[in-house]
This record gives sequence, structure tokens and C-alpha cells, in this order.
Amino acid sequence: MLKTLQWTDTSLRLLDQTRLPAETVYINCTNERMVWDAIRCLAVRGAPAIGVAAGYGAFLSISTVDACVDVLREKLHTACDYLATSRPTAVNLFWALDRIKRCSIAPAALANVAGGDAVAAFKHQILDECRKIEAEDIACCQKIGQHGLAVLQSLGKSEPLRILTHCNAGALATAGIGTALAPLYWGHERGVKFQVFADETRPLLQGARLTAHELAHAGIPVTVLCDNMAASLMSQGKIDAIIVGADRIAANGDTANKIGTHGVAIIARHFGAPFFVAAPTSTIDLALGDGTQIPIEHRDPTEVMPQMMAGATVFNPAFDVTPAALITAWITENGLWQPGQESNLFNAT
Ligand code: MRU
Repeated sequence: MLKTLQWTDTSLRLLDQTRLPAETVYINCTNERMVWDAIRCLAVRGAPAIGVAAGYGAFLSISTVDACVDVLREKLHTACDYLATSRPTAVNLFWALDRIKRCSIAPAALANVAGGDAVAAFKHQILDECRKIEAEDIACCQKIGQHGLAVLQSLGKSEPLRILTHCNAGALATAGIGTALAPLYWGHERGVKFQVFADETRPLLQGARLTAHELAHAGIPVTVLCDNMAASLMSQGKIDAIIVGADRIAANGDTANKIGTHGVAIIARHFGAPFFVAAPTSTIDLALGDGTQIPIEHRDPTEVMPQMMAGATVFNPAFDVTPAALITAWITENGLWQPGQESNLFNAT
């Protein structure tokens, strides 16, 4: 399995996803500015991975600083606020940074330990929270894999199960085995046969470059198609289910994911194919009533048109919002979630 990120004790080692699949290059981030840059330029991307990276990025702002706890806490909060400006849509970023901030004011962090011991205890507590965020993400991915496989198998289709996905919600987007791709890895390990169709995902080709790369690496059959070919494929009855990840899910179930996801969901509804969203509960933002409130990132026009043309402008939203009505089910680490059912959000089954 490709390792998206790794804490090395002095730095955060990130697999530079902008260079994949041609080159396997790592970036060694030693401060919060390097982590901010890596998130902004998509060297590390995918909602859960962004959250994990941001946590370590915040820690890097204090890891080598020699100061008292109050000064460290202030620096940490400043770094959290700064990292929160890197990208706006994936709520996991803000969720992870909130956790770091809350941890820094938790009673244990405020305990009356003497001098240098207090500083060491404070740093230890923050790093521990970063490690917990990472470990929880790995565990969530596995649970999503288990639940998602059960959902896919309950469709009663013969193998290979023909699954279409959009963007990359695999190992490269998380610290673990992914969200949308987790059921495929979980099943593959248990002998279930799949044929995956990966939308190339214009403009940055996360499907063609990343999803195809990681599935091929894992030995799961994968076929890449241009985004405008999904309707043709589904019209021929060649897709048993669609499964995608999410960057933010509003309380009513409206789901922001990579641009183009909404179109895939419309096509799936037209041809009667089930459309699943797989995401950890940390991606559900109950503070937002519906998808119109989800902030959508707009990126540089040159991502769409490297050679800009005089007289033409570019529309380049990185995400769109799929209305809840088009989504068959949301698969989380706690099993299926239904909008309005908050009770199963925070209790592992
Ligand atoms: O712009 P990106 O590559 O960060 O977009 C990623 C996606 O849209 C993923 O589908 C989403 O974050 C889910 S990742 C498990």
C-alpha cells in the first residue's frame, strides 16, 4: 500500500502526489509553511489526509521552539489558524485543527508541571493528538471497508463487481486504505473480484493518475475512462454501483466531492445504478443545514487551460455538491448513516 504520509519524529514526510504516477518523490516538511504549501498545491490531498497532515503541520510550529507553555500554545493556535486557510472545502481540515486547539487547552495540558517538564509534557500531548488523528483515520478506513463491502455484496450482483469511482478516495487520500476504495481493498484481500472503472477526473486527473496507479499497484483490475464516457458505460448496463468519497457532507446529506461527482450521480439515477458515498463521520458537518452552505474552492484557471487564451475565461470549481436525493446511502465507519440520524454518528458499531 502506498504511504501517503509519515511522521518521522522531526518532520512530516509526504508523498508528492503532484508527481505521480511518473515519479515517486517525497517532501520532507519541517515547518507549518511547508505543510500549508503541500496542502494548497495538492502534494497531499483528499479530505482525511489533509486533516492528518494539518495536525502534524500545527505541531511542527512548536516542535523545536524553546519557550514556555503559554507562548507555545499561542504559536500553536496561530499555526492552526494559518493552516486552516490552505483549502476551504474539506471539513476534515478544520475538524483536525479544532482537535489540536482543544487538546492544547485540555486540563492535562494546563496541569501544573514544573518548567521544562511542563514544556515537554505539552509538546508530547499535542504530538499524541496528531498520532491519534492518524490512527483513527486508519481505523475508520478499515471499518468503512468492512461496511462498504457488505453493502456492495448485498446488491446480489455476480463477480467481478463492476464499480465506477470518481477522483481519488483511496489510500492516497487518507492515512489508511481510503474511503471509497476501502471496500475494494477489503474485498480484494478476501478474494472478492472487482472491475473498477476510474473517471479520469478533469482537470487534475486524480482518477487517471492516482486511483488507477494505486489500484494497479494493489493488483485490482482498473480501467480509466474520460469523464464524458460514464453515461455511455452506464447505458450499456456495465456498472453495478458507483462509490465516491466526500469532502464535506451537510446535515441533510448533500455531499461536496470532486467536481464532476454531481454529474455522475445524475447519470447513475437515470440508469438506475446505486450511488454510494463513503466517508468517515469527521466529514459530516452538522453545522451546515444543506449543501448550499458548503464553501467551494475555485482554483487557478491554468489548471483547466495551461495556455490561457485572450478573450476566454475559465470556470474552475474544485468541487460540486451532489443533492442527498441522488445518494443511495452514506457508508461511514459506524455503518450506514441517514441524514437526521445523529445517534449513529459518534458511536462505533
Ligand atoms: O482536490 P482533491 O484531490 O483534494 O479532492 C479530493 C476529493 O474530492 C476526494 O474524493 C475526497 O476528498 C474524498 S478523499 C477520501
